[in-house]
Amino acid sequence: MPKVNTLNFNTDWQYAEAPESSDHVQLESRYGHFINGKFVAPANGRYFKTINPANEAKLADIASGSAADVDKAVRAAKKGYKTWSRTPAKERAKYVYRIARMLQERSREFAVIESMDGGKPIRESKNIDIPLAAAHFFYYAGWADKLDYAFPNRRASSIGVAGQIIPWNFPLLMAAWKIAPAIATGNTVVLKPAETTPLTALMLAKVIQESGLPDGVVNIITGAGKTGSAIVNHPGIQKIAFTGSTEVGKIIQKAIAGTNKRYTLELGGKAANIIFEDAAIDQAVEGIINGIFFNQGHVCCAGSRLFIQESVADLVIRKLKDRMETLIVGDPLDKNTDIGAINSKDQLDKIKYYLKIGVNEGAEMYQPSCRIPQKGYWCRPTLFLNCAQSHRIVQEEIFGPVLAVQTFRTVDEGIEKANNTPYGLSGGVWTDKGSKIFKVSSKLRAGVIWANTYNKFDPSSPFGGYKESGMGREGGLHGLMPYLELN
Ligand code: NAI
Ligand code: MG
Repeated sequence: MPKVNTLNFNTDWQYAEAPESSDHVQLESRYGHFINGKFVAPANGRYFKTINPANEAKLADIASGSAADVDKAVRAAKKGYKTWSRTPAKERAKYVYRIARMLQERSREFAVIESMDGGKPIRESKNIDIPLAAAHFFYYAGWADKLDYAFPNRRASSIGVAGQIIPWNFPLLMAAWKIAPAIATGNTVVLKPAETTPLTALMLAKVIQESGLPDGVVNIITGAGKTGSAIVNHPGIQKIAFTGSTEVGKIIQKAIAGTNKRYTLELGGKAANIIFEDAAIDQAVEGIINGIFFNQGHVCCAGSRLFIQESVADLVIRKLKDRMETLIVGDPLDKNTDIGAINSKDQLDKIKYYLKIGVNEGAEMYQPSCRIPQKGYWCRPTLFLNCAQSHRIVQEEIFGPVLAVQTFRTVDEGIEKANNTPYGLSGGVWTDKGSKIFKVSSKLRAGVIWANTYNKFDPSSPFGGYKESGMGREGGLHGLMPYLELN
């Protein structure tokens, strides 16, 4: 008998510890753009609100960036570049280290605000997002004065102003992925966080201000797609780094075709998580859960297509359903929560649309019996069984806690099915045999492959995709290259 989840979100007794409180975090009621080391009001005086998706309450008003604001920020970044690019590398490194340490010191506050603004469980923001963001600053600080070792016999120089546009699924972490390598290598930055999750980027702006980083090296402009587009099209920018949807990635590619702007694109995914019959099944089940339900499935590299070898399929699916019964959906600030709030109403609508499509396509839908709160945006963890390769729920990125399940018989069939996707960002292989890991991972057309684990990240490891998942790599030594001219 599966364990039935009887937890009720609105009573206090269930908490092993009290939930994190928002009382000790200090939010301002209104935030301007961060330009040339100062917070400034938007040129047109317009603001939009960011809300908490777990209760729909407004958190703050955020400056809406116009082309005039972007222009101001690019000018500041250009001016900042004149001195920053000539600052000795070991001096630059000191600032980047300082930012890393300050993030660590304030990690609790960052974690609470990340969970409030975006809906992710506090356990994840506290243990993964914020520490990893700090780790990226530490890692790239280390490279700043060692570029001669990174690229022997070549001369590495910075390129100029980088325009950086990031999504809402890992707000602070994506800001760190973008800013740390750019400034460590002597470039300056105009970054735009996503419109539903701007708060931790603005807190990072405060940290940067307090770190004493020279004015204009990092500028942060808030706004939605139009603001992003103004960054992409600004002639003063030498490089675009974008993480987000494949759709917007294509718009950006078209917009900069014919200019000499460089670009890296980290786009969508529909990763295969492949379970072979010789895998440690209980561990694989944990890996499947983590692969798709981590961060509500709002993960570009999520293991959103599950392939199980036929001989163990019934066993794996039974264990998976049992495990799903134990998942707790609810308050992102509660340490016991496994699945937090869906990031926005738009994203929830998109997920619901795919749930309907899946049912209409003839797949069998399974959801555990967990309760979900009344207010806010929520989705139960969902399995679709008996999927076909042609189903839209198998081919398209849903970006929610929804897993499409298929089976296979032979290793080659598993590989072929896994590669049958327009995407190529990541994948997972679960088997007891090292030789199978090598064979399968070398044949999967995906940038990152995990073996007997999933969704593990480290700043020293490059990340990026093939096909419609994007181009270029971020992280590791490879992540320096987009920000350097190598001669
Ligand atoms: P999006 O791609 O529109 O947003 C990502 C960032 O790009 C945001 O900062 C946004 O303001 C900005 N942006 C939007 N339009 C732009 C434009 N024309 N030029 C420059 N910047 C622009 O993603 P959205 O609409 O939030 O989500 C839609 C779907 O995209 C999701 O359901 C998911 O499937 C996918 N997505 C994938 C991500 C990934 O990491 N692979 C991240 C976010 C979304
Ligand atoms: Mg928000």
